[in-house]
Amino acid sequence: MPIGLKDRLVALIARKGPISVADYMAACLHDPADGYYAARPALGEAGDFITAPHVSQMFGELMGLWAAEAWARLGRPARVRLVELGPGDGTMIIDALRAAKAAAGFLAACEVWLIETSGPLQALQMSALAEADAPARWAAKLEDVPGGAPMIILANEFLDCMAVRQAVRVDGRWLERRVGVDEGGALAFVPGHPHQSVAQVFEEGAVFEWSEDLADFGRRIGDLVSRATGAALFIDYGRDAPGHGDTLQALRGHRKEGPLDNPGLADLTAHVDFPAFLEAARAAGAASAPIRRQGDFLRSLGIEARAEALALARSDRCDLIARQLARLAGADQMGDLFKVACIHSQGLAPPGFEAP
Ligand SMILES: C[S@@+](CC[C@H](N)C(=O)[O-])C[C@H]1O[C@@H](n2cnc3c(N)ncnc32)[C@H](O)[C@@H]1O
Repeated sequence: MPIGLKDRLVALIARKGPISVADYMAACLHDPADGYYAARPALGEAGDFITAPHVSQMFGELMGLWAAEAWARLGRPARVRLVELGPGDGTMIIDALRAAKAAAGFLAACEVWLIETSGPLQALQMSALAEADAPARWAAKLEDVPGGAPMIILANEFLDCMAVRQAVRVDGRWLERRVGVDEGGALAFVPGHPHQSVAQVFEEGAVFEWSEDLADFGRRIGDLVSRATGAALFIDYGRDAPGHGDTLQALRGHRKEGPLDNPGLADLTAHVDFPAFLEAARAAGAASAPIRRQGDFLRSLGIEARAEALALARSDRCDLIARQLARLAGADQMGDLFKVACIHSQGLAPPGFEAP
């Protein structure tokens, strides 16, 4: 019988010693045989977790209108690459393309690119997009998208897959937290080498997170967007100011479980450190808009008017649409927890970020 990811990790740790939280997270998500996204991603009501595009078609529609308006502000170039990072089952891009038909000339200018590493999800996206209003192409990384045209990039719940490292405050100093094996042979967090943390937190047991992958991606996207011109929109749960805390979270069947319980069987995420991400993009030459909360952003794109129009067309669904609106934009639901950030070329004013 093939050995599962948990047993392989235990064997690796027994051989080489504890591994970083980032290496653990990367294996859980992307191990080619048993990583969650490589082997068994399950999005939606019947799967492990729900994302905004599954809550309501309004979310993807507003992303499409945002992209069309960004294109207009770029001067309506004859060719533009519309890129989605981590498109899941393709729900958001389908809704976005349908809504973007309203912007004369936009879809004709668009070349759609989907950046996806997951084989099973890419197959779902291909069948979802078979009849789409613009032809789509796929690539495993952003750098594989050809240059020579402005880029408009959309990414919902993509950055939370970036691997984080963690340090924990023990006896008055920061030690990197690593994943080892306890006396019973189970995976366990263990303290590692001292870490020079920048966090001004002195409470025993506090956890501080940072992500080299996120900073590296921030530099790459900042460089790309500033050279190609364009705008990249990121929506994710995360912080809009520097902070600390343990945000590593595993979700399976819509339930939280311990991050070490079932490697590869659950989705594993961490809150996005937006200030660090944007700082890396700016250092590479791009500009960034002030981080907004999802609720404020969607309201400024007109989600309330869209909900009203949908409810007028389907009076039997008024209550459902009101619940969907509250879920996406309500401060007590996704509206405040999720943040929206935009990295763009110098001189562009991205839509939805104007001062209220
Ligand atoms: C949490 S799902 C979000 C899906 C979709 N955006 C949505 O909102 O429903 C994360 C998506 O990012 C993809 N992904 C994760 N890490 C990636 C990477 N390094 N490169 C490309 N895609 C990645 C996953 O396969 C999946 O499609």
